[in-house]
Amino acid sequence: MSVKLGIIGGTGVYNPEILTDPQEQTVSTPYGEVRLIVGNFCDRSVAFMNRHGAGHSVPPHLVNYRANIAALKKLGVKTVLATAAVGSLNPSMEPGHLVFTDQFLDFTKTRQTSFFDGGPAGVVHIDMTNPYCPELRDTLYRTARELGLMCHPVGIYICTEGPRFETAAEIKMYRRFGGDLVGMTGVPEVVLAREAEMCYATVAMVTNYAAGISPTNLTHQEVLDTMASNSEHIRKLLMQTVASLDPERNCSCQHALNPLVPA
Ligand code: HPA
Repeated sequence: MSVKLGIIGGTGVYNPEILTDPQEQTVSTPYGEVRLIVGNFCDRSVAFMNRHGAGHSVPPHLVNYRANIAALKKLGVKTVLATAAVGSLNPSMEPGHLVFTDQFLDFTKTRQTSFFDGGPAGVVHIDMTNPYCPELRDTLYRTARELGLMCHPVGIYICTEGPRFETAAEIKMYRRFGGDLVGMTGVPEVVLAREAEMCYATVAMVTNYAAGISPTNLTHQEVLDTMASNSEHIRKLLMQTVASLDPERNCSCQHALNPLVPA
């Protein structure tokens, strides 16, 4: 059975306890090797990957995003559910809430953002009008509501370079730009997934109010603590969502390089 579904676990989501018969695999890609786990859930073969590597050893600005997405693509993955810890700029998006981001603003600086770097790979300008798969986001939102989780169907995600947290002035600027959430890992992962013609959606867990909004200075421990107290919500949501998705589902994201092919 080829692997059609992938989960990218971000900060605080390290353990694929939902999978039976988990097998560690190392996948070679042109961008480097990736270690991940392939197992079963509800008659589906699912790949689980830690975005930050074993023991959270890779910081956001050094994650090999191209290798991670290329590895999932090589396994045959068509649908990716990613998790992310985020700070909130929006008072209605409180710590512990889930947000199914629908847009991003990219403030990263040093990352490899494309599989298409010219030369033999060619040049591609992929459409990003709706960067996150609308169908997947809808399924996640409906499932989260069924589970009674506090959640928001849309949110604008600001991606910073990190690994430092933001200044209060940066957060003020991001708010004026319309941002709801801030994190360090969403871009270029979502872009590469679209270039690889995969459906991709993020489950963003608010772990803190952003710098200058929070009454206290930020710490990574605070992020980990909020993730730990809410990780069960994410686990349930991922399980129920994976169970309800048709592994053979077709969607326009899967024809992103050739949008004239009907989904
Ligand atoms: N800023 C950036 N990344 C984050 C934050 C934050 O406040 N919280 C969790 N990830």
